[in-house]
Amino acid sequence: ASSLGAAAAQSGRYFGTAVPAGKLGTSAYTAILDREFNMITPENEMKWDTTEPSRGNFNFGPGDQIVSHAQSHGQRMRGHTLVWHNQLPSWVSNLSASDLQSAMDNHITTEMNHYKGKIYAWDVVNEAFADGGSGQQRSSPFHDKLGNGFIEHAFRTARAADSSAKLCYNDYNIENWSDAKTQGVYNMVKDFKSRGVPIDCVGFQSHFGTGGPPSSFQTTLSNFAALGVDVQITELDIAQAGSTQYANTVNACVHVSRCTGITVWGIRDSDSWRSGDNPLLFDSNGNPKSAYTAVLNAL
Ligand code: XIL
Repeated sequence: ASSLGAAAAQSGRYFGTAVPAGKLGTSAYTAILDREFNMITPENEMKWDTTEPSRGNFNFGPGDQIVSHAQSHGQRMRGHTLVWHNQLPSWVSNLSASDLQSAMDNHITTEMNHYKGKIYAWDVVNEAFADGGSGQQRSSPFHDKLGNGFIEHAFRTARAADSSAKLCYNDYNIENWSDAKTQGVYNMVKDFKSRGVPIDCVGFQSHFGTGGPPSSFQTTLSNFAALGVDVQITELDIAQAGSTQYANTVNACVHVSRCTGITVWGIRDSDSWRSGDNPLLFDSNGNPKSAYTAVLNAL
């Protein structure tokens, strides 16, 4: 295949990237975007601080720019993200519990309604579990004021707002099967599936160090998939972008039938949020690195 997107499509998968609206006017950037990628996640433009900077005042302009680019270039969209403790405006954190509940419901409903029909999958809740050995939810305004049930409530609200979009839980450091955080998320998804709480997919961010994915990554993906959800690699980057490490990551996905796609978190190293790690598939001049070829061959 002649591009990442076409290579992934050979097995019915997609290959995506994070895109900031501010780069859509740079032709050196969009040339690679539109040649290689058939799924787009807005890097920041659908987060709460952009979409509802003050209560009830919605700003979908930057997100709309990305959706419009995607639609005119045959790319699908992942919505990212509705409920997250980061990039959360302080007005939200300062609400009472009952106001927070209604603000969360209104945020989910209004944003999903705005983008209805244009989003393949939403990261409904992002990064709600704690690092370390607890396997429990992390402290956040949502958890601390609404309790553990806020995640279930968010997914039910999301399904009611848009019955067609896939609803995902997304997190980092849940790639290693034996980690307490992985087990915590797994148990939540298992519980949701057994009680009929609407969840369709789990996103594994996959921000890896130089070693790449843990050796159990494929096991983790297939164990989650066996619960009856799709799984996706949603924010892939690997410090120093080793070819073997990238190929191992792609292989973990392609060996799991319900792993439906892979998204890298940026195009060129100069686009990465991890400055200095050179973790992406294209160098800062836009030339494909050896990891690019490794990924293409593994798809
Ligand atoms: C990052 C963006 O890449 C940065 O531009 C921004 O300053 C901070 O957020 N997990 C996520 C992503 O779910 O939204 C984050 O994106 C990276 C970590």
